[in-house]
Amino acid sequence: MPFKLSEIAAQYGVHYYPIVSSARAFRLLWKRAYSRVAELLGAVVYEDPWRAGGHNGLSNAEDPLLPQDPYPRVLALRQVMREEGIADSVPIVMAGGVWNLKEWRDWIDNKDLGAIAFQLGTRPLVTKESPIPESWKQALLKLLPGDVLLHRFSPTGFFSSAVKNRFLRNLEQRSERQIAYSLERAGDHDFELDVAGYGTGRKAFVTRGDLLRAREWAALGFTEALRTPDNTLVFVRPEEKSEIRKDQTDCMGCLSQCSFSSWADNEKNSTGRMADPRSFCIQKTLQDIAHGGDIDNNLMFAGHNAYRFAQDPFYSNGYVPTVKELMDRLVTGIDARPCHCGRSPPESAHPPLEAGPCTISARSARLLTPSTPVWPGVACRRARPRCWNSTSGCVRHSPPPRTRRRRSTRCPATSARPWAT
Ligand SMILES: Cc1cc2nc3c(=O)[nH]c(=O)nc-3n(C[C@H](O)[C@H](O)[C@H](O)COP(=O)(O)O)c2cc1C
Ligand code: SF4
Repeated sequence: MPFKLSEIAAQYGVHYYPIVSSARAFRLLWKRAYSRVAELLGAVVYEDPWRAGGHNGLSNAEDPLLPQDPYPRVLALRQVMREEGIADSVPIVMAGGVWNLKEWRDWIDNKDLGAIAFQLGTRPLVTKESPIPESWKQALLKLLPGDVLLHRFSPTGFFSSAVKNRFLRNLEQRSERQIAYSLERAGDHDFELDVAGYGTGRKAFVTRGDLLRAREWAALGFTEALRTPDNTLVFVRPEEKSEIRKDQTDCMGCLSQCSFSSWADNEKNSTGRMADPRSFCIQKTLQDIAHGGDIDNNLMFAGHNAYRFAQDPFYSNGYVPTVKELMDRLVTGIDARPCHCGRSPPESAHPPLEAGPCTISARSARLLTPSTPVWPGVACRRARPRCWNSTSGCVRHSPPPRTRRRRSTRCPATSARPWAT
């Protein structure tokens, strides 16, 4: 639990933005630490455990296979914040599963929820500015429903969501090739493990059924039995064992609580805990994938709505938008009120008043690039009463760039000849 966050923020006089996955977690943090630095709380990020990409705070009381509706969970968070005297103007940042804002219309200007903001992690991965390798972006564009897995293999001990590629399937299968053992004969554990790869001089006693399973795995090449902190053995191939051992040896202690390695920067060079071969070195794999490593054999964090890339026409033919294009796309259709032009257009064409001029106006003002999607047939009337020969800021009828002269017709508002339509 990041109890020290508020204290560190106070030292530097900056706001802090705790990330929680439940009202309960926030209450605990607030009571133990944050209430002492209440004035610097900038917002509270609610990371939805069943939707968001990357790590989250799913608790043992919650079922990873039973997603819950985020609305009552965020409402409960707001209620806790109110009980603790935090103003409704301190935003809750909804993170996880946000694809576009019109799907969250009920959340915006909702008095019960108070101020709400939205955070995205998965969609911005597929933008021109995103630093991840092109192969990762293209892989995201092809995902299907169910291709993202909420799992607990991370060495941090937290649940996290990533693409179910070969890397994650290997970890899943490694955990499935697991049996309980005891060091002495006890109860059902009456059969001595005779698989060659189990350390010399060591004895392990298992049940009869598990002995047969271990022999089967050994026959398939999974000859090496590695001990886990839960008194179980997992079976891996010899080369996999070498890789695990190498990664543990190469550990540079990036996490204070790493379940995969027992190395620590102290006198004994040990955490005193047994390293867990069911996990992996997250530092190594994240660095590798970020620098062009194999996307199938590394951890590829992504949220559970990643399959929507393949379904959204915005990304047709593998198109990767700019961040600006993405932001324009996100806000479309969230408000049916008239645009700045005073007209009530189809809602998909006009963002809300606070978002600025409608897309057509913005495009004419060259705020958008030519590839930005627009809504055919909808012309902004905002500019209509004005004409090109009125120089007072008519965006629609401003001169076109020199390189792109367009067909000149008469201005529909004044019948004068504008630069272009
Ligand atoms: C590739 C990736 C890396 C992330 N890394 C972090 C991180 O280092 N720290 C963090 O607090 N959240 C991280 N997140 C979570 C995002 O900040 C964000 O809250 C989340 O992705 C929102 O859900 P979405 O993926 O459905 O948009 C990451 C998400 C992704 C997809
Ligand atoms: S370097 Fe790898 S093994 Fe070491 S603490 Fe970090 S994640 Fe764990």
